[in-house]
Amino acid sequence: MLLEREPELTRMRQAIREADDGAGGVVVIGGPAGIGKTALLQAAAGMAEEAGRRVLRARGSDLEQEFAFGVVRQLFEPPLTRAGAERREALLQGSAAPAGPLFDSGLFQREPADDTSSAARTATGQRGSTAPADRRFTLVHGLYWLTANLSSAGPVALLVDDCHWADPPSLRFLAYVSARCAELGVLVIVTIRDGEPSIVQEILVALRAHPRAILIEPRSLSPDAVATLVRSALGPHADADFCAACARASAGNPFLVRELIAELETERVEPVAASAGRVESVRSESVSRAVVARLNRLGADSRNLARSVAVLENASLRQAATLAGIPGARALRAADRLISAQILASSSTLAFVHPLLQRAVYERVPAAALADGHRRAGLMLASEGARSTLVGAHLLRGEPAGDPAVVVLLREAARAALADGAPGTAVRLLRRTLREPPSNEARGPVLGELGEAEALARDPEATGHLRQALELVRAPAIRVRLARILSETLLWDGRPIEAHAALVEMIGQLGPTAAPPLRAVLETLRAVTASVDRRLVAEIEPRLPLLRELAVAAGPAGRGLQVFDACWQASRGPYLGDWRQLMDTGLDRGRLVVEEPTGPQMARYATCSLVFADDVGRAQKQIADVRADTVSRGSIDAQLSSLTWGALLALRLGELAQCEADARAALELGERHQVVWARIWSAAFLALALLERDATTEADDLLARAPIEAAIDTTAAVHALLARGRVRLAQGRTAESIADLRSVGEAATVDNPNLFPWRSALALALSAGDPEQARSLADQELERARWFAQPRGVGVAFRVCGVLAGGEDGIAMLSESAERLRRSPARLELARTLFDLGAALRRAGRRSAAREPLREALELAQQCGAEPLARRVDVELAATGVHLRREQAQGPEALTPAERRVAELAASGLTNREIGRTLFVSVKTVGTHLGHIYDKLNLQGPQAREHLAALLNGNGVAVPAGPGPPRAGPAAPQAGPAAGDLQPASPSPPRIHALDGTQRG
Ligand SMILES: Nc1ncnc2c1ncn2[C@@H]1O[C@H](COP(=O)(O)OP(=O)(O)OP(=O)(O)O)[C@@H](O)[C@H]1O
Ligand SMILES: [Mg+2]
Repeated sequence: MLLEREPELTRMRQAIREADDGAGGVVVIGGPAGIGKTALLQAAAGMAEEAGRRVLRARGSDLEQEFAFGVVRQLFEPPLTRAGAERREALLQGSAAPAGPLFDSGLFQREPADDTSSAARTATGQRGSTAPADRRFTLVHGLYWLTANLSSAGPVALLVDDCHWADPPSLRFLAYVSARCAELGVLVIVTIRDGEPSIVQEILVALRAHPRAILIEPRSLSPDAVATLVRSALGPHADADFCAACARASAGNPFLVRELIAELETERVEPVAASAGRVESVRSESVSRAVVARLNRLGADSRNLARSVAVLENASLRQAATLAGIPGARALRAADRLISAQILASSSTLAFVHPLLQRAVYERVPAAALADGHRRAGLMLASEGARSTLVGAHLLRGEPAGDPAVVVLLREAARAALADGAPGTAVRLLRRTLREPPSNEARGPVLGELGEAEALARDPEATGHLRQALELVRAPAIRVRLARILSETLLWDGRPIEAHAALVEMIGQLGPTAAPPLRAVLETLRAVTASVDRRLVAEIEPRLPLLRELAVAAGPAGRGLQVFDACWQASRGPYLGDWRQLMDTGLDRGRLVVEEPTGPQMARYATCSLVFADDVGRAQKQIADVRADTVSRGSIDAQLSSLTWGALLALRLGELAQCEADARAALELGERHQVVWARIWSAAFLALALLERDATTEADDLLARAPIEAAIDTTAAVHALLARGRVRLAQGRTAESIADLRSVGEAATVDNPNLFPWRSALALALSAGDPEQARSLADQELERARWFAQPRGVGVAFRVCGVLAGGEDGIAMLSESAERLRRSPARLELARTLFDLGAALRRAGRRSAAREPLREALELAQQCGAEPLARRVDVELAATGVHLRREQAQGPEALTPAERRVAELAASGLTNREIGRTLFVSVKTVGTHLGHIYDKLNLQGPQAREHLAALLNGNGVAVPAGPGPPRAGPAAPQAGPAAGDLQPASPSPPRIHALDGTQRG
């Protein structure tokens, strides 16, 4: 029976009811130890069940903090087990699939201690997928979808008691789901104890600070309530002064009240006024001492058994007895006594009635005995086949003793933690392994594994440990693997020079006679590293013959080098060179990624090259493959790449909304994981997309925040400088713009206008101040671009030449520019050229000739979402005498390809959530797209979706046309989950449609 909890229960009931309107919710029950949080959570479980929710429960515990996803497993294992094979498969399919392995039996299995085998296999490229990737990201994403799938059968509530002890990966998942509770309609209820240090305090703080979280903080019980409890336990005759003394001693804390009563009961204290003094002496802080005293009175067996249970947290009688060294029959009697003394709970396994009691006992075990207990517990559980993560959790706390068996178990647990996407746990386990310490032979491999786990956990000690490991390990295959991880880590940190130095050193040590597959790994990475830094790039050309020879000699392991070679040729040779064939051979229909240790890296590298080469088909396929790698290996690098290169592709295709969505997502992920290159690239692309919307201030801020200076000599930084130069020009900061664009010319790793059209940009910046130099720069760019023969570069250069030349010459060049750009996928560039062409024609007095290019420019600019350009075209058209009428609708052609995909899925009846799952984008992004789609098609109201289907199928429905007041859409929601399905997420200005009356009647 709960006393004095009416207000709390009412708020809880209300929160549960509100969550039932499909909005989901988060409830945090907070307060000091013993105040009654668990009791409230218990009541909440009942209410949620009554409200028709499926309640999934879990509890954090001190030891639990060490097992990755322990809380998540507690939550989801029961429903998955109960689901039956078929339903289980359905729950874990599609986007939820990455979470599947978490719920495989995953029992502890002793693997051969030969740690070299898998490393060697990986390093020589027989099975690249054995390399653990950083799975944190996709696991959480997969679990999100598992939650969504479970919710589709009916609303779900996730209840986690003692959340402060939840393991960090589970806590990350809870925070992720809580932030999206409205999308899922899920109700999250957790308890958090005040002042309890957690490994990931910031997540707890975030949970509590969640804007929709309802915080419930149970209060202390009043003296009346304490008296009620005392009287119901010790008898209705208990004296008022005695009861008041109990209230004072416990300060109304329900746990302390109960402990006090238990103590008074066993001490047989009479509940009379005269005993009040006795009560006063049992001060609250001495409760734990009182419990221990109670325990001691039960005898040595009970005490030892209780200590064993405190170490094991939850154990069978046999396990606790074995650990305590007590024979079975005696252990049974001891357990009975502990249960009658209300220290252990009576259930199928042994556990304390309350975590505070467990802690009281645990903390009084001498440190040495505790360390010994955990060590033996770990070994005992391992021999029984327990999960290796549980074994590891005990051994982490165990006393180091140089035991090779413990080293094997800890490494095994670290491997399991990596497979679970918990590199942080793996790092702790391996650091503990070093303290065991391992044998001399094992030390190098352990340091290597530690460095690798730290690299995944983005721990700054990674490179140091990898270097130490390289000094100890002799086996070439493992050395190559370590050097690969070291260089990838350094490159990830934006330190190509160091990465390159490490690779050069390693290649030197390996010598020219080493196995070609091993050399190929290092040479591939060396070439990639050199190609992204202007200080190193010069070394590549002279080494190409050697690399090509090695690509052949290395067999399948040479595929990475083939890809590099293809990328090199793509960016440095004529557009129609035969690099495409080589690229396809190297990528080998996706086998490169799966089979080669350098595969994932090379697949990402190739994606970037294909996008810059304007090979849209291959680039799209490659982005899809990298995205698939995100899912299958859970790699953050892959996720970042698919977003970053997806943003670049969209930008080059003129799909500005898509570019913005991808670049923002990449930027957020890159900032969260401190990935220098991704932060710079995505800021550059986002800034350029924003420029097309005249959002120059935001673009400038973005670039100011990007760590450009930290990587100033790398390709990423050069692109950021190019973007910054353009933004500054648009802001009227001409001098700064000129400086930026000049530095691009100095730092560019390749003089290819399809990648770095800096001369034409600089020419525009100089056009007013130094027209001669401007023209000369534009001419040079045109010459370069013609040599490369990629239509985009030629078209852009012709445009700038045409603009600078003016007059009839200018018009001829602008026509040539349009001609070239029509052969490229650069629609926005074409729109710009057509605008300039139209304007030039109009200025030359050829008004009617000006209309056609302007009309086309308008249409293209609108399709791209380049509103400011569309407005400028609009004005220019008006000057040609075309009378404009603003219309609301443009028809389905106005949709960008990305919007078209979303529109088709929506029209086919999918919900936003399902669309997001199909296209692997967030529900929020789907909402944004739909907002644009509805705006463009002028659809509103509940029938919007039906109309959408009809429009796409070509049955023109009556869409209101003609002049209408521009719709004042709602302010674009920047944060927070999308409102329900099919809600326009952001407004866009009314569409413009030219009706010049003369030609279209
Ligand atoms: N309102 C109440 N009326 C009567 N008994 C209560 C009340 N609240 C809690 N209790 C009892 O007090 C004891 C402590 O409560 P509970 O375990 O819920 O505390 P807690 O806040 O979860 O503590 P912890 O921080 O250790 O998890 C339990 O035995 C519980 O049944
Ligand atoms: Mg509790």
